Amino acid sequence: MSKPLSPETIAIIKSTAPALRQHGLAITTRMYERLFVDPEIKAMFDEAAQKSGEQPKRLAEAILAFAENADRLGALTPAIERMAARHVETGVRPEHYPAVANALLPAIKDVLGDAIDDGVLDAWGEAYWFLADVLKAREATLYTQAA
Ligand code: HEM
Repeated sequence: MSKPLSPETIAIIKSTAPALRQHGLAITTRMYERLFVDPEIKAMFDEAAQKSGEQPKRLAEAILAFAENADRLGALTPAIERMAARHVETGVRPEHYPAVANALLPAIKDVLGDAIDDGVLDAWGEAYWFLADVLKAREATLYTQAA
């Protein structure tokens, strides 16, 4: 299990979550612009979208929603289970997680600019990696079971 988020980080995230949600679509759009610069990652989403017929906007929305609930992860177990299953279907591996972090966090800064400072971005970075660790652990188990 990953190291729990500190009370300070949780407080920052909860106080800034409404601003991030308000600009959610802009942040998501900017995140995918940044993420899809990598053709290998873009291809994963293209193939998934062909099967599901939907834009994968849920990814960034989920990161926002989940960071807001980072202090009560138990409530998120069913959603984490769905995400991990979808990730295993689409071949997401631990080495892909930095690319999403490197797209999401600068996208937040691109959109919100001077409205947020480095402390806020650091808190969201911690929340991202907290979730990423939970997902990676569950996905490792699913990959082992499938092998
Ligand atoms: C903390 C990090 C992440 C979170 C919270 C997250 C969340 C999600 C969610 C909520 C979905 C939709 C699940 C469903 O169909 O019900 C999803 C799907 C997906 N995710 Fe992630 N994800 C994360 C990291 C990643 C990474 C690192 C990659 C790889 C680059 C990735 C690639 C995908 C793909 C390809 C899909 C399928 C999209 C589709 O069905 O069209 N995700 N993710």
